[in-house]
Amino acid sequence: MIPCVIWFIGLSGSGKTTLSNALFEELSKKYPSMLLKKLDGDLLRNGLNNNLGFSLEDRNENIRRSAEVAKLFYETGFVVLASFITPTHQNQQLLTTIFQKTNTFTTTNLFKIFIDCPLKICEQRDVKGLYKKARTGEIKEFTGISSPFEKPLPNQVDLIIDSNQFTIQESIRLIMDKLEEKKLL
Ligand code: ADX
Repeated sequence: MIPCVIWFIGLSGSGKTTLSNALFEELSKKYPSMLLKKLDGDLLRNGLNNNLGFSLEDRNENIRRSAEVAKLFYETGFVVLASFITPTHQNQQLLTTIFQKTNTFTTTNLFKIFIDCPLKICEQRDVKGLYKKARTGEIKEFTGISSPFEKPLPNQVDLIIDSNQFTIQESIRLIMDKLEEKKLL
């Protein structure tokens, strides 16, 4: 396996973290000597990004900083599994641009996966109870409810997975196959 950044895009509750965790397990089993790092919105917003909120401007800055952190790990030889909502086309484009500025970068080193799960299902799951709070207005600017989510265009991601259609194991198989096809494994 070669260093790369595997970036999960999708609504809160779409399954980004679940799939990232499962992929982490799979990769650590198959490539025990590979350096792996998990990053996600909650983790970075706790520290480095704790001065940022959820306005479109702040989300852009959140993605910029998080992508730069992912890039630093990548340049050190890590495989980075990054889960961020990355809600707008602007965010998604910024992510790509940041990686294009890396000397060692070839387009295949940034592998973007869109976890395409219907909002209705994410809201039903409501793992963190945030959708309920967003509906009552307790949480403002919530993605999908009171803040936009712009689906990435199919030609701007490497893989689209409907987490409502596939089991975790099936999704991991799809990801592994695609990583292999892209010669990252
Ligand atoms: S992003 O839009 O800037 O990419 P990010 O992935 O970092 O978002 O953070 C999303 C996480 O923040 C969610 O998993 C959720 O736990 C929490 N969160 C808190 N408030 C909001 C909100 N208004 N919209 C979306 N997520 C929120």
